[in-house]
Amino acid sequence: MIVNTIAELQDALYKHRQAGSTIGFVPTMGNLHQGHLSLVDKAKELSDVVIVSLFVNPTQFGPNEDFDSYPRTFDADCQKLQNHDADIIFAPSVEEVYPGYPQNKAQPNLTKVHVAELGKDHCGASRPGHFDGVTTIVTKLFNMVRPDIAVFGQKDFQQLAVIRRMVQDLNIPVTIIGAPILREPNGLAMSSRNGYLSQEQKDQAAGIYRVLSWAKEQLNTHKQSFDEVEQSAVKQLEEQGFRVDYFNIANADTLQVAETSDKNIVILAAAFLGKVRLIDNVTLTL
Ligand code: PAJ
Repeated sequence: MIVNTIAELQDALYKHRQAGSTIGFVPTMGNLHQGHLSLVDKAKELSDVVIVSLFVNPTQFGPNEDFDSYPRTFDADCQKLQNHDADIIFAPSVEEVYPGYPQNKAQPNLTKVHVAELGKDHCGASRPGHFDGVTTIVTKLFNMVRPDIAVFGQKDFQQLAVIRRMVQDLNIPVTIIGAPILREPNGLAMSSRNGYLSQEQKDQAAGIYRVLSWAKEQLNTHKQSFDEVEQSAVKQLEEQGFRVDYFNIANADTLQVAETSDKNIVILAAAFLGKVRLIDNVTLTL
């Protein structure tokens, strides 16, 4: 079932709530690939009724980012979701979610949700306002859907950490589930933005995961210091034709610069191939 308005969504959910069904939610921006669909499968496993939102959220894109050109493939998305037994597809317009937009472009939402600290570094540093856009839309969607569980991918490691923190700090009554990164056979993390790449660039793009895996190996075998690994990784990526945004070894819980005494580590990378910005990460326990 496809619904476009909040009122229709709530009507559709009413009977499920009355029946005592548990509700699982997967928020997406559409242009679905296997990575997204693995979240739907996970939600299906953990709840009775699954809602998937398809909404390209303007407030999480910077002024020079790809909001206008972001791939919109509604019919193909609905087909894939039907094949994965999603119960309700929620595809609202921008006007439905942000009344008054785009006239009110600078301030489509007067109220914002801001998660301090966790959203500051990494993608937060290179994309000012991005995580406020994400936390605000996810809060709005949670209030519309009121799910019992919501599934997010570890592909966006910092986003998942920020959302977990938001839910904890604001006592939002939802259980957040993190799901593993799905990759192409060459190691490239699946992403809607891979569609911007030529076949040749896709082969090149797999270099991010190779360098992340190399860095993980270095840390596991204690061959080099964190700084040395970061510097060498940046150099390797540059040699492979990337423009590196960041390559950071961080504490996986706080996302602060990792200390040698830290146990749970995440290595976070963002790099441009041409105009396309790709992110990926690996985790390890020391
Ligand atoms: P989007 O980029 O469409 O991603 C939707 C969900 O799919 C996110 O939880 C993301 O981490 C997950 N995902 C993407 N690629 C994945 C992969 N290769 N393996 C596993 N999961 C993957 O993230 C967003 O949309 C938006 O910021 C959103 C949360 C919907 C708010 O607008």
